[in-house]
Amino acid sequence: MPLFIRNIKELILVEPASRQYPPKVVSYVGGADMSVLPTMKNAFLYIEDGIIRGFGTMEEFVRGKFLKKVRQAGVTEIDATGKMVFPAWCDSHTHLVYAGSREIEYTDKIRGLSYEEIARRGGGILNSAKRLQEASELELIEQSISRLEEITKLGTGAVEIKSGYGLTTDSELKMLRVIRKLKEFSPLTIKATFLGAHAVPEEFRNNREGYVDLVINEMIPQVAGEELADYIDVFCDKGFFTVEDTERILMAGIKHGLRPKIHANELAFSGGIQTGVRYGALSVDHLECTADEEIQALSKSDTMPCLLPGAAFFLGMEQPPARKMIDAGLPVALASDYNPGSSPSGNMQLIMSMGCVLLRMLPEEVIHAVTINGAYAMGVEDQLGSIAIGKQANILITHRIPTYAFLPYAYGSNNVETVIIDGKFV
Ligand code: NIG
Ligand code: FE
Repeated sequence: MPLFIRNIKELILVEPASRQYPPKVVSYVGGADMSVLPTMKNAFLYIEDGIIRGFGTMEEFVRGKFLKKVRQAGVTEIDATGKMVFPAWCDSHTHLVYAGSREIEYTDKIRGLSYEEIARRGGGILNSAKRLQEASELELIEQSISRLEEITKLGTGAVEIKSGYGLTTDSELKMLRVIRKLKEFSPLTIKATFLGAHAVPEEFRNNREGYVDLVINEMIPQVAGEELADYIDVFCDKGFFTVEDTERILMAGIKHGLRPKIHANELAFSGGIQTGVRYGALSVDHLECTADEEIQALSKSDTMPCLLPGAAFFLGMEQPPARKMIDAGLPVALASDYNPGSSPSGNMQLIMSMGCVLLRMLPEEVIHAVTINGAYAMGVEDQLGSIAIGKQANILITHRIPTYAFLPYAYGSNNVETVIIDGKFV
């Protein structure tokens, strides 16, 4: 059924004429452009067959062709007086398929143990792997669906989900099959990433290379054979996987058509960013340890730097230099990293607040970072991430808010009232 939203106080991130779609002009927004947010005040939006068919000012509406369309029977009308409409958030980095929770480690962390110390004691990722291996597909699906429902209410319309708590061939496949089920059941747009190289499992404690061999020779061919993943990830960092391991795994993945999206430079200057760029990664994520050399590598690439302020916040670590990146002309995406160990929240409104307060990004910059740039970082920028004719209608309507900056300002509140995915209310 067609959907008509009228009297929108401000329609956010409309593609200006120069960026009309099609033809595709903009895939992401970087540097100084991130602080210039294209919006339209007192606007309307017209959706049909799940696609954005028209938008403009209310004055244009009463003069234009949409007036006649809206008068036809069967059009659902929404009055958005005082409310704003945004493209729904695109959360390009999560691990939201997991079993149970890890608040015991949270307490250990408060007592002063580091992330690496907890990992070395069999906590961390290995702890989640044990629980996931024991969980049934059905249990995982149930837990994950409730997380998806929770983030949808907070405005997320697209989400990337990684494997990486399986760490055996069977369990990695189980995780990816769960993600495939979620793609079927959930109205959200979902992308799956194979992260077999998330941690070295206990059995390979003294044989990391043996585990990398297993990922390459057994896991990747099966994952690709069943077409279970869209992307491939490696945790390229101190205490986890080296640049050499990462290169071997990425090469094998690329051979099977899996583009990299990697965890890099969270714990150290690991060389992960440069490796990601060299292998044409769609995004490199975390980047707490980033300096001039890394920024330079990114400048010459199409790789999206994706920052996860929730993880650095939760672990009490230094945040990545977002300001420096944007001032150097780079784009930046923000994602939740929703996972049980380092960021047990998928609240993208909170991530926007962290972007402003902890990363010193402007409200305009964080809005770009969680919409069009997030869409690019998960390969859906053609369909999502901005208000453009022809794009999929994944949008959100806020409560009555004074300005768009109110959203990151009012941290901890849910200011999203309605979420529409594919033109349907969810
Ligand atoms: O993105 N950094 C690596 N992996 C996750 C943490 C996973 C966990 O602790 O369970 C992350 O922060
Ligand atoms: Fe992560």
